[in-house]
Amino acid sequence: MTTTVLSVASEAYPLVKTGGLADVVGALPAALAAHGVQVTTLIPGFPAVARAIDGAEAVHHWPDLLGAQAWLRRGEIDGHPLLVLDAPEFFMREGPLYTDIGGKDWPDNWRRFAALGRAAADLASGAVPGFRFDILHAHDWQAAMGPAYLRLAPPDTDGTTDTAKSVMTVHNIAFQGAFDASIFFELGLPHGSFSLGGVEYYGQVGFLKGGLESADAITTVSPTYAQEIHGPDFGMGLDGLIRSRVGRVHGIVNGIDPAVWNPANDTALAQRFTADTLDSRISNKRAVEAAFDLEPGEGPIFTVVSRLTWQKGMDVLAWVLDDLVATGARLALLGSGDAGLERAFRDAAVRHPGRIGVRIGYDEALSHLLQGGADAILIPSRFEPCGLTQLYGLAYGCVPVVARTGGLADTVIDANEAALSAGVATGIQFAGVSTESLKRALHRTTTLYADAQAWRMMQLNGMAADFSWDHSGLRYADLYRSLLGD
Ligand code: ADP
Ligand code: GLC
Repeated sequence: MTTTVLSVASEAYPLVKTGGLADVVGALPAALAAHGVQVTTLIPGFPAVARAIDGAEAVHHWPDLLGAQAWLRRGEIDGHPLLVLDAPEFFMREGPLYTDIGGKDWPDNWRRFAALGRAAADLASGAVPGFRFDILHAHDWQAAMGPAYLRLAPPDTDGTTDTAKSVMTVHNIAFQGAFDASIFFELGLPHGSFSLGGVEYYGQVGFLKGGLESADAITTVSPTYAQEIHGPDFGMGLDGLIRSRVGRVHGIVNGIDPAVWNPANDTALAQRFTADTLDSRISNKRAVEAAFDLEPGEGPIFTVVSRLTWQKGMDVLAWVLDDLVATGARLALLGSGDAGLERAFRDAAVRHPGRIGVRIGYDEALSHLLQGGADAILIPSRFEPCGLTQLYGLAYGCVPVVARTGGLADTVIDANEAALSAGVATGIQFAGVSTESLKRALHRTTTLYADAQAWRMMQLNGMAADFSWDHSGLRYADLYRSLLGD
């Protein structure tokens, strides 16, 4: 029998994306269809989404959803069913999704994403005519009120349907959706749920906290991160709660969507290639040099495709750029984020013309070219729940140089002597994010790059590795079925 899942998130590629969350939410429907699971995706009607489903008739109307009118509209996302929560007062704002253009969180974020959660709970439980799902699968804090409403304030369905089960996936526990306690009375939750077992979180209202407390199962996006968030260093205050949910926390590593990330048919590349035609990759390297004003050369080009933040270790990278250039390497960086870091990278490009090229902004096509043309991708993250850019790097022959944490630890095989002689290395890992450890990793990388045979072996190993969704799709399907008692 087909299991039906309502997958709820604030982003889904290709409609709205600010990071890896969107890639994963966008890939899940196809990944799960292969395992007898039908996924319907529910996302907010941000302007780009509204444009994509332009003209779709409303199939439901909420006259008052957290204080605003909202309509439900149907669409499609890559051929899979899509539901859009069209609440113009909440979501029809051009610019960033969660902040104003100045980068300040919208003051009504709690209302916007409580509305998403409330709608999800209504849909999953059968309270909206014509809809009912076996599983409500919520992603990150923006969707976390879904499981919370389902358990703490289930809609009245006259007992005609079984309650849907819920899964809460943590893509990043650092983002928790914690708000002032004064909003509690507007959420429409019973009084008792401002408590340890409900949404109360150190005197505030915690959306992710409520979701984690309420969901029937918790997943996170790699096994190592699942372990890490059990402790205070990575749990960000929620580790106690994670520890209390014994047996309910699962680490399921993300896959990559082969329809989007495949160097054999990637139209964003100057030259498509496979493992058999790896030599032709050089055309992409030349295109990267041209796009980033780098002087052409034989030495390695490092790339960075990232949010420029503390999580990603970008401050540490900024400190070692002079050393990077001194090794004879070049850098092509694409990213945006903290203003201070953007400035630091721009300054470095001015200091090292032809050696460091920086593009501040967000550019999907350029990110593909960088994976297909740079030699190595640098990911010195302080924590990384899964990380996708190392997976794209592996698939594109762009060797990942990563901090040993979270999903980076799970997906890259370090080129230590044993791995090199066994012929299984796929990249470079380093422990602890510091200028010293990063400098050592850069040196190891340039030394390995000079050994053409070893380098080629790493590229081919990465390209041959299986990061499809096959295995992880099956794990989600099994998890859903275990919750349903099948
Ligand atoms: P996170 O979600 O924490 O930012 P991930 O590695 O999981 O990290 O996913 C980041 C996603 O966003 C990848 O698809 C990456 O290619 C993309 N990305 C990040 N920064 C940029 C950028 N400036 N331009 C284009 N794509 C970017
Ligand atoms: C988050 C994490 C990242 C992960 C992505 C998709 O943005 O920071 O590590 O890959 O979600 O799960």
